[in-house]
Amino acid sequence: MTPDHNKIMRRILSALRLPAGLIRTTLISIREKYQSLSLRFKIAFFVVILMTCTSFVLSIITVQIMNSYLQNEIIKRGESIGKSIAASAGYSLLSKDLLGLDNLVYKAKSSNNDVEYVAIVTPDNKAIVHSEMAMSDVIFSENSGRIIRHSQDGTTVKELDRSSDSIFGISCPIVFMDRPLGSVVLAINRSVLFQAQAEVRKSIFVVFGIILVLGTIASVLLASFIIKPIKELSIGVSELKEGTSKSPLKIYSDDELGKLTINFNEMSSTIALQQSKLNKYARDLEEAYVSIVKVVAAAIDAKDPYTHGHSARVAQLSLLIGHAIGLSSDELKDLEVACLLHDVGKIKTPDHILQKPAMLTESEYEEMLRHAADGASILEKAPSLHKYMPAVRHHHERQDGKGYPDALDGDRIPLFAAIIAISDTFDAMTTDRPYRKALSQEEALREMVRVAGTILRSDLVAIFFGLIDKRSAGKSATPVARTV
Ligand SMILES: [Fe+2]
Repeated sequence: MTPDHNKIMRRILSALRLPAGLIRTTLISIREKYQSLSLRFKIAFFVVILMTCTSFVLSIITVQIMNSYLQNEIIKRGESIGKSIAASAGYSLLSKDLLGLDNLVYKAKSSNNDVEYVAIVTPDNKAIVHSEMAMSDVIFSENSGRIIRHSQDGTTVKELDRSSDSIFGISCPIVFMDRPLGSVVLAINRSVLFQAQAEVRKSIFVVFGIILVLGTIASVLLASFIIKPIKELSIGVSELKEGTSKSPLKIYSDDELGKLTINFNEMSSTIALQQSKLNKYARDLEEAYVSIVKVVAAAIDAKDPYTHGHSARVAQLSLLIGHAIGLSSDELKDLEVACLLHDVGKIKTPDHILQKPAMLTESEYEEMLRHAADGASILEKAPSLHKYMPAVRHHHERQDGKGYPDALDGDRIPLFAAIIAISDTFDAMTTDRPYRKALSQEEALREMVRVAGTILRSDLVAIFFGLIDKRSAGKSATPVARTV
C-alpha cells in the first residue's frame, strides 16, 4: 500500500469515527431515556408499534391481493369482449363484410369506456378494421409487450407499455369451421385498476387509522390494567421497607399478579408481626439497659459517701432544665442517661482520693480531673453509648475556656454538658463535703449567678434560677418522676 493509500485510508477511518461516536452517544441517550420511562408507557408503546407494523404489513398484503383480483377481473372482461367479437366476426370476414366488422369494433369500443381500441387483424397481423380510422392497415407486432397469460384456445394477454399507463393487450383468434381467419386485438386501459387501488388504499388507511386509535386506547387501558396491581405492589414494598405499611393490598384478579399480591400480603403481615416482636424486645432491652445504667450510677456514687445519690439528683435537675428549654422526649431520655453516666470515669479514680475526708492535694486534684476523659474512654468501648460521650467528656468545661479536659468555650461546649455543669455545680454546692458544709440554695444560686458567663452558661443559669425559685415557692417546678 502506497503512502497515498495510507493517507486516504486514515481519512476514511477518521471520517467514519465521528458518525460512529455520534451513533454511540445517541444510542446511550436513547437507552437512558428508555430506562427512565414508566412501565405503563413502555407496554403501551410496544403494543402500538406492534399493531402499526402488523397493520402496515396486512394493508400491503391486502392491496396486493386486491390488485391481483382486479387485474384478473379486467383481463377476464377483456377476453370476454374479444371472444364475443371473434365469434361474430368469422362470418363477416369470410363474406368480406367490412361494414359489419367496422360496426362490431365500433360498438365494442363505444360501449366500453376502458377499451382503448379494437381491431380485427389478418393471420399476418395486418389490421383489416380498427376502431381508430387512422390506424387501419397498421401491422401489429407480435413481440410487443410482456405476455401475462396464454390460453389453450390461442387467447393471449399481454401487458403493453403505452406512455405512462400500462395497457392490457388481448388477442383472441377468429376461427370459422376450424379455419383460422385472423384475430381480434383489443386494448384495455388499466386506469380503472388504479382508481380501484386508490379507493381500496383509502379504505384500508381509514380502517388502519381506526384500528390504530382504538388499539392505542386499548393498549393504554391494558397497560393501566396490568400496571395498577404492580404499582400498588411497588408502593406496598416501599411502605413495608419504610415501616409505614397500613392495610393489606387490594387483590384485583385471580391470575399470577393476584397470587403475587396475596403472597405479598401474607409476607407483609408476617414481617409486621416480627417487627412488633422486635420492637417489644428492643423496648425490653432498652429498659434493661437503663436499669443497668442506674445501677452503675449508684455504684459510682456509692464509692464516695459524700456524693451518694449525686448522679440521680443531677439527672432530676437536668431534666427540669431540659423541659424548660423544650427538648423532645427522646432528647430528655438521652439527657437523663448522660447525667447518670456523667461521672462514670470515677470508676478509675482511686478510692483514697474519692473518699479522702480532706482537701485534695494538687496531684490528687489532677487525678480527680481525669474522670471526665476517663468516662468518655469507657463509653467509647460500647457503640450504643457513643452518643453520651460529648456530655460525659465535657461536663467540666467552662464558658471562659478554662475548664477540662479540652478547654472548650462558649457554644463549643455541647448543650448536654452545659446543662450537666449547671446541675452538677448546684448539687455539689448544696451537699456536705468533707472540707466544708453544704451551702443553702440561695447561697448556691447566688454563687452560680456570679460565675454565669465565666464558668456556667448564662442563659441556662437564668432558666435554672427561675426553676429553683418556683420549686422553693412550691408552685410548679416539681421534678419529673422517673422510674429509671
Ligand atoms: Fe464530674
